[in-house]
Amino acid sequence: MLNESDTCGCSISRRALLAGAGASLAAATFAACGEQDPMASTTTMSATTVRPHSHQPGIATPPQRHLQLAAFDLQRDDLDALHDLLSGLSMSARELETQARAARLSLTLGLGPTLFESDGRDRLGLASRRPPRLAPLPGFPGDALEPRHSGGDLCIQACAEEQQVVFDAIRVITHEAAGIATPRWTLHGFLPGTPGTPRNLMGFKDGTNNIAPDDTPALNRHVWVGADDQQSWLHGGTYMIVRRIRTLLDVWDTTSIEEQEATIGRSKDTGAPLGGHREHDRPDLDATHDGAPVIASDAHIRLAAPATNNGVRILRRSYNYTADVDPATRQPDAGLIFISFQRDPAQFTRIQQRLARHDALRKHLLHTGSAIFACPPGGDAKHPVTGGLLFDAS
Ligand code: HEM
Repeated sequence: MLNESDTCGCSISRRALLAGAGASLAAATFAACGEQDPMASTTTMSATTVRPHSHQPGIATPPQRHLQLAAFDLQRDDLDALHDLLSGLSMSARELETQARAARLSLTLGLGPTLFESDGRDRLGLASRRPPRLAPLPGFPGDALEPRHSGGDLCIQACAEEQQVVFDAIRVITHEAAGIATPRWTLHGFLPGTPGTPRNLMGFKDGTNNIAPDDTPALNRHVWVGADDQQSWLHGGTYMIVRRIRTLLDVWDTTSIEEQEATIGRSKDTGAPLGGHREHDRPDLDATHDGAPVIASDAHIRLAAPATNNGVRILRRSYNYTADVDPATRQPDAGLIFISFQRDPAQFTRIQQRLARHDALRKHLLHTGSAIFACPPGGDAKHPVTGGLLFDAS
């Protein structure tokens, strides 16, 4: 897959693509972003790239403005081909990140449950290496999932400050994977460029009460898979959950600000919890006014809070999206690409089970896509991201 020449005619190597006749858009973009010759050898890592060594980037690193998320399916059950693909992608990810370091490109690889077992079949001989917690999510009340927006054997999350960079990164990787894996779905996500906590399409600050990138104790406790968490190859990795959540903006836009704020449990203007003054004030879930809770019993932040979920926390790294007009409703398909990282998918499931049943926000949402991936720990120049899984297995 990483051969410099395209021998089978069905795959284009990254280098061939970058060097291709007509100077591809990808080459131009990466040259501009990296301010260096895209053909130059990139065996050393720049200090400004966002890839740390022990964990993959794009997880606990601060969110960039753009996301291109792409899921792929294997075209055939061939462990050797998968091995080549994953080792190659791991290496290419580092090179692309270095070339587009000015745009803070990060590439995060995830492995879906169907890679290990599909329809009860040990398709690649990897079933015994499947982390037991890597299983399709249960259904939740109100789910309207569509297969074309869900699942995937593999996923690549590309994040950068520029849309063209994330698009091109996925394009390069798609070319590299050709003949081995084929795209299943892809989605562009974005965040506003204004300083401070980004606002979602519903107009609220989203991400206020989240695990901070430098909160190592919380990351170790809630996000990174530990040495004792089964399957040692995933130690230092995490589970990624993706939900494509359409927000029914027509109704939301005609809802009063007071009702919107009661639905979330926070001020739309400042992001402060109701009853508080500043964005980062601690929500007082016990406060009452005239005998009624200040933060309603069905408010989103009450039902999602660690305090009401036995201390369970997740790391959210979501992006806004807008896609097409839904042909059935003629409403825009726009909303949130909800992404969370957690040490155990049960953390997400616990919260979502409550939200799907009781959250005041639920009538404004439609979950149309769902996927889960195991993100291995970070690699380095000598060790591909998936080395622990594939080299130890062979
Ligand atoms: C389109 C769907 C959603 C929207 C618009 C949304 C919006 C928000 C907003 C505005 C906040 C308050 C600010 C903040 O602390 O970030 C928040 C908090 C939160 N949300 Fe969501 N959310 C959505 C879906 C979800 C889902 C699916 C989950 C998990 C299953 C979730 C989990 C959380 C958590 C854990 C918090 C922090 C609660 C706290 O401790 O204060 N959200 N969300």
